[in-house]
Amino acid sequence: MKSESLGGVMITGAACGIGLAIAQELALGGYGVVIADLDDAAGARAATEIRAKGGRALNCAVDVSDRSSVAASVRACEDAFGFIHAIVNNAGICRPQPFLDTTDENWDRTIKINGLGVLIGMQEAAKAMIAAGRKGKIVNTASVASRSGDAEWVSYCASKAAVVSLTQAGAKALGKHGINVNAFAPGLVQTDLWARTDKDLMNLGVTSRPGEAMENFSKKIPLGRTSTPKDVVGTVAFLISPASDYMTGQCLMIDGGVIMQ
Ligand SMILES: NC(=O)c1ccc[n+]([C@@H]2O[C@H](COP(=O)([O-])OP(=O)(O)OC[C@H]3O[C@@H](n4cnc5c(N)ncnc54)[C@H](O)[C@@H]3O)[C@@H](O)[C@H]2O)c1
Repeated sequence: MKSESLGGVMITGAACGIGLAIAQELALGGYGVVIADLDDAAGARAATEIRAKGGRALNCAVDVSDRSSVAASVRACEDAFGFIHAIVNNAGICRPQPFLDTTDENWDRTIKINGLGVLIGMQEAAKAMIAAGRKGKIVNTASVASRSGDAEWVSYCASKAAVVSLTQAGAKALGKHGINVNAFAPGLVQTDLWARTDKDLMNLGVTSRPGEAMENFSKKIPLGRTSTPKDVVGTVAFLISPASDYMTGQCLMIDGGVIMQ
């Protein structure tokens, strides 16, 4: 059994993809992890696998846009692991639509999950940390899309720009409580989300064959390759560790050098 003094980390959208890789890495580092995901069956499988490898993990059915489910998951984290040390607000959706055809429904749903979902996660975790009189870490998943609007990713880009803004606002509000708020911004990561996006772009006529969107994007990457979820986990581990104690309000690009700032 690993030390319980590290506390728990709640990771939203951790049943697969980037969130799952983060949960696996943090569990290896001794944190108790909460797999907080809409897909609770996949979340249960992920938690079982982590426990089978000696880690501490539990799953919670969470819709990040539903405050009561997020608050319940924060409480479950405290009950299981003593306190919540960090939250990684990672759940997100991406439904590309061309600028002039972007629907109200697409906008509302994307902003609700990617924007409001992050705000709720930040608020509920921070309230628990403050009530417990503990410092803590909040890490939000942004994107290269945070930094530049794109004609086919209207709602998504706006929602990820909101994540950067929320990170800065949270950092200013919560610094006095000893809570650091930072974000990381992946480029193209090979996950189910990207596989679905590839199909969506073909259906929209933006590309004409599988993999074309990835090839086009790859040409812009100075490091010459797309990424996998493992490429981001070290940065997240750093952002929840004492090594980042004097950083807040920052968004770290993990995109192979696409955006240099
Ligand atoms: N894959 C990429 O290329 C890429 C690039 C930049 C940023 N991101 C961001 O990284 C994050 C994770 O992306 P991914 O590629 O791993 O996606 P994914 O689709 O592979 O996994 C997302 C997970 O989030 C869960 N989820 C979706 N809506 C939810 C909700 N309302 N409440 C709780 N859970 C929910 C899903 O069930 C799924 O398990 C997202 O915020 C995404 O925008 C991804």
